[in-house]
This record gives sequence, structure tokens and C-alpha cells, in this order.
Amino acid sequence: MQIYKAHILFTRERTQFEVIPNGYIAVDDGKITGVYNQLPASLAGQPVTDFGDKLLIPAMNDIHVHAPQYRNLGIAMDLELLPWLDNYTFPEESKYSDTAYAERMYRRFVHDLWLNGTMRTAAFATIHFDSTRLLMDLFKEAGMGARIGKVDMNRNCPKALTETIEEAVANNEALIAEYAKPNALVSPIITPRFVPSCSPELLTVCGELAHKYNLPVQSHLSENRNEIAWVQQLEPESHHYGDAYNRYGLFGDTPTVMAHCVWTDGEELAMMRDKQVMIAHCPSSNFNLASGLAPVRRFLNEGIPVGLGSDISGGNHLSIFRTMVYAIQTSKIRYCQDKSLPFLTLPEIFWIATKSGGRLFGKVGSFEQGYEFDALVINDHELNHDNYNLLHRLERFIYLGDDRHIEHRFCRGREIAEPKITK
Ligand code: GUN
Ligand code: FE
Repeated sequence: MQIYKAHILFTRERTQFEVIPNGYIAVDDGKITGVYNQLPASLAGQPVTDFGDKLLIPAMNDIHVHAPQYRNLGIAMDLELLPWLDNYTFPEESKYSDTAYAERMYRRFVHDLWLNGTMRTAAFATIHFDSTRLLMDLFKEAGMGARIGKVDMNRNCPKALTETIEEAVANNEALIAEYAKPNALVSPIITPRFVPSCSPELLTVCGELAHKYNLPVQSHLSENRNEIAWVQQLEPESHHYGDAYNRYGLFGDTPTVMAHCVWTDGEELAMMRDKQVMIAHCPSSNFNLASGLAPVRRFLNEGIPVGLGSDISGGNHLSIFRTMVYAIQTSKIRYCQDKSLPFLTLPEIFWIATKSGGRLFGKVGSFEQGYEFDALVINDHELNHDNYNLLHRLERFIYLGDDRHIEHRFCRGREIAEPKITK
């Protein structure tokens, strides 16, 4: 049993913060057993870790990111999605047949997630079995939670990134045998890259694997208009892009995350609602690749689950706090164009980043009884030069703060030390 004392802030509900000044959280075996204004008599005498005047908030969840694009962070943002993939992304991902290169980059990637306070990540790796395993082992070594996808792709891409159906099945099954354990902190997720990269046969086996092993699925959906038109040509029988996944059992038959959904509307939106397909909103990437402004308010109105993704290297940074700000700003630009969709509020985007996105990893993202204790201790002393109230302190940290203000990081009850960059 551990007890932590600090100013506690989190979102149980979408529209409001819970604020407990000088509150206590009791944690047992990685899980929260209680959150208190005053320490109850039953816990009197237990040792308390007192963080004093600091803020204690849930840790961040990044539900869409490409680990092997880390070297391209902050460069190559002069093209839209399809030529961007061909010219910059596929050549970089091809390098991950080299596990020494993969280790150097992946260590830095895991380190920088840690730095930014992201304790749970749904990541795409590459088609390569060995470097995907390596990435999973680096998360395990760090003690940080992850759903890792060995990417599946076999068409419209360089030969070096093309696998056979047999390889796709064998390599996925080997990873599943090794990592798909109940309650595992790091586990596989079935990852067809997107419809243009996957033949019907490959989509079929991906759906079969997800079903056979009851595994979640992640992919991309309705990000860019040229992409959507291409999918319609490739899968002419499908009613919409989402339907192209649905026909292969890849759209909500098991927990499913689709990144972007910038242009999702009509039947596709209704299917996502009915099948509770989760949306990874990636506003930084949507700006950089000139993809558009995703209608997050509409997703919320429909009751579609939403979380946030950095989507590096379409996105140009790993910080989910910055992503929150861009998500609010995206919703405000949309609101300027269409006043019928109110913009997102701070508690709403905090809830999306924590409790809503955290659903992908179990009971993660809130400070309620039974939730896993994933938390950050924020030392905002230098931002709090004039006695701001606690909500304004959190808001200033989100808008002005960075990794320098994150003093401790916890995942599943354990304090996570800085991961090593080089071996
Ligand atoms: N669609 C298919 N692959 C990708 C990718 O790597 N990044 C983004 N943003 N969209 C994709
Ligand atoms: Fe992506």
C-alpha cells in the first residue's frame, strides 16, 4: 500500500474537473483503492509520500503514433499524405530491417514518451519482426504500457516493406504467442497499415487474427481526400472507407482504434457509433499534412469514443499536452466556420486525453477506485508566480508547461525511472 498526497486533479466526467486540494490517493498492487480529502482513520499511521504544493494528475495516453518515424520528427512536412508516405516515410521505415538502427531510434522514442509524461502508447512499428519485438521489449524494460502493432502491408509500397501473407500470419502469431498474456503491460495489436497498403487477402488474415486471438485493431481512416478516393477505387463494393475495414472484420468486432477520421460523416459516422470504434484524434498531424480539421464535437455528440494521438512524424511533437491545445484550437477554427458545433473545453479535452483514450488500455486515465495508478507529479512552481487557483495552475501547465515541469511519472503504481537512451 502506498499513499500519495498532493493537489489532485482529474476528470471523472467529460465536462468538469474533480479538484481535491491537499488530497490523498491510496494505491495497492498498482490500483487505486481510494481518493480522499482527509486520510480516513483506517489508513492512519500508514506512511504518506507528500508532494506538497505540486499537482497530481493522470498520466497521458497516446493512442496513435508511429515509432519508426521518429527520425523524421520535425522534417519533411511539405507534402500531403500519399506523396509524403512515398517520399519520406516508407524509405525511413525500410531501415528497420536493421535492428541496431532500430534499437538506437526506438530507445530515444521510448525515452521521449517518458519525458513527455506519456505512460501508455498505442504504436505502429514496421513490418519487421525482430525490430517490433525489440520495441516491445524496450517498453517492458521501461515499465511503460503499450499496445504495439507489427505493421502489415503488401501493396503500393516499396519491395522492402512488402511481406507475404504467410510471413504476416507467422510473424503476428509468433508475437501473439510471446506477448499476448492476460493483463500484460505490453501486448500486440493487429495493425493493417491502411486499405491502400493491404491486399484483400492481407485484410482477410488480419481480421481472422483479431478474431481468433481476440485482439484489438488499429489503422487509419478518412484522413485525406485523395486517400479516400483511392480506397473507393480499390474497394469498389464498400459503401464507405470504414465499410472497407468492416467487410474484413476490422471495424469494431474487437476493440478498434482508427486514426484521424477528418472526413468521416454520414454512414461511416453511424457505423462507428454503432460499433463503438474509437477515434484517435491527431490534430498536429492533420495540420502538418494539410489533412483538415476533424469534427471532434460531432464525434462526442454521437457517443463515439475519442482519444488523442501524436501521430509522429505526421505530428511534429510527442507531447499530449500540446496535442490538447491543438485539439482545442482545431475545434475553435471549426466553430468559426460553423457555429453549430461548440468548441472543446479544457475539461473535455483533458478527459479525452486521459479517461477516454485510456480505455484502450483497461481501467486507465482516471483517479477512481479500481483504476490503475498512472500519474504525473507536476511541479509548476515557476509558472505559479501569482497564486493562481488550482484549475488555472493546471491550465497554465497545459498551455505553457513542458517536460521540465514533470517531476515524477507513475505507470500501474510504479514510479518509472528515466529509460536509457544508449545501451
Ligand atoms: N496512413 C497510412 N500510413 C500512415 C502514416 O504513417 N501516417 C499517417 N499520418 N497516415 C498514414
Ligand atoms: Fe498515423
